[in-house]
Amino acid sequence: MKLALRVALAVIAGVVLVLGGFGYVRVHREIMLLDSDMRKDHALIGSTLAVQVSETWFADGPSRATAVITLADNNREGVDISWVPHGSTQTLLPIEWQQLKGIRHEIVLLTRPGGELLRSEEGTPYLVTHIPVTGRGQLLGAVQLATSSELRDRYVRSSIISSVIATVVMSIVAAAAILALGVWLIGRPLARLTEKARRVGAGDPGEPLDLAQNDEIGFLASEMNAMCDRLAAANSKAAAEAAARQRAQEQLRHAERLATVGRLAAGIAHELGTPLNIVSGRAKMIVRGKVEGLAVLEYARSIADQSERMTASIRRLLDFSRRREPQKQLVNLTAVTSSCVELLRHEAERQNIELVMETSEEIRAHADPGQLDQVTTNLVVNALQASPPGSTIRIRTGLTKELSAGSEVAEPFAFVRVEDEGTGMTEEVRKQVFEPFFTTKPAGQGVGLGLSVAFGIVEEHGGWIDVQSTPGRGSVFSVYIPQEA
Ligand SMILES: Nc1ncnc2c1ncn2[C@@H]1O[C@H](COP(=O)(O)OP(=O)(O)OP(=O)(O)O)[C@@H](O)[C@H]1O
Ligand SMILES: [Mg+2]
Repeated sequence: MKLALRVALAVIAGVVLVLGGFGYVRVHREIMLLDSDMRKDHALIGSTLAVQVSETWFADGPSRATAVITLADNNREGVDISWVPHGSTQTLLPIEWQQLKGIRHEIVLLTRPGGELLRSEEGTPYLVTHIPVTGRGQLLGAVQLATSSELRDRYVRSSIISSVIATVVMSIVAAAAILALGVWLIGRPLARLTEKARRVGAGDPGEPLDLAQNDEIGFLASEMNAMCDRLAAANSKAAAEAAARQRAQEQLRHAERLATVGRLAAGIAHELGTPLNIVSGRAKMIVRGKVEGLAVLEYARSIADQSERMTASIRRLLDFSRRREPQKQLVNLTAVTSSCVELLRHEAERQNIELVMETSEEIRAHADPGQLDQVTTNLVVNALQASPPGSTIRIRTGLTKELSAGSEVAEPFAFVRVEDEGTGMTEEVRKQVFEPFFTTKPAGQGVGLGLSVAFGIVEEHGGWIDVQSTPGRGSVFSVYIPQEA
């Protein structure tokens, strides 16, 4: 509708411009034609009268001659005809008698109070013509003709009015026709196209558009229908692909579950199998009385050690399977981390590895201190296991808003970072470190549960663990938890 209205307004402007220009040229030409007709009339009447006056002058005398002019004046409507004797100054226009040789026309402004033609600065323009009357070689006088332009002006005015009316009527008719056509050919189909586009945007294209128009809008409608068809085909393909992907993912998850169960079974078998063998072997030896004295004590201690190892393994398995809800409270992350580092310092010194706690200021966070301690201990123990003697492990706590390069979050996260100069990991290993029972350590040194337990705890705190590692150079494990949990 708006488009049709704009086109209609443009057409009105065009019609006004063209018809206005055309009217102006026509009126101008009519004025010229009317003026030249008036001049021709004056010349014809004046010259005929001049001949008649000259002949009568010498045949019947001057008074009869001027009477001819009075008679002509009375017979002519719209033209004032009068006789000007030679030398007279009583004329509508001053006459230079010596120079009056032929017909002289001039347009002047005249008023006519009391029936007398007089010159005036204001009033109706008059065409005044003087035609010299000669006879027997002498100048007798002149015939003076004066015609008001009133008639011409009236004609011009009515011509202008009719032009304006024609322009207005044509504009209205053209605008109405264009509005109707615009609404029918543009507005209505465009409204349907818009509705269709809105439905496509909302995800329900509905029925195809049926516009019986063989023009650009019709082509647009059929293009839109084709686009909707392509979209529907793409959608169903995407849905099929998504379903296939979901199926594949489910199969993968199933396979992963089987692998985890397998690893779990192998892990338990290994973790408990070896110590159980030792326990039963030693116990049988004692029962059969094959050992005596101090050796019995030695065997009993070995049984106790292996039982402890099994208990520890079972505790860690329980930790993994029955994770308890974190008991969150406001803790100083630096203090929790430091005390855990201090507990491991002795072990580090034994391996000739330096443990450096780099932060001293307080970092507050809502967390379960016991679980946090467990996470940090796992990370530092892993770092110790991966580090060669003489290397350094740096531990730092802090707050950060920049979680990835260049992007910031509104609320800061608290972090604990453990950085070692150890073996590092290949990309392959790095991807699996959080999987339960994934370990690269020799039997008896690692179960593969440390990081998966840590991962679960951190996740329950609303955080995550980031791992960066370069084989041969070391690894950085960063634990992020929201400051306000
Ligand atoms: N700091 C590290 N440097 C190099 N490799 C590491 C580091 N931390 C972990 N890993 C790798 O990740 C694996 C999994 O670690 P995770 O702590 O889960 O198990 P684990 O240490 O092998 O056994 P557990 O901790 O149960 O005794 C490790 O076997 C090791 O390959
Ligand atoms: Mg570990």
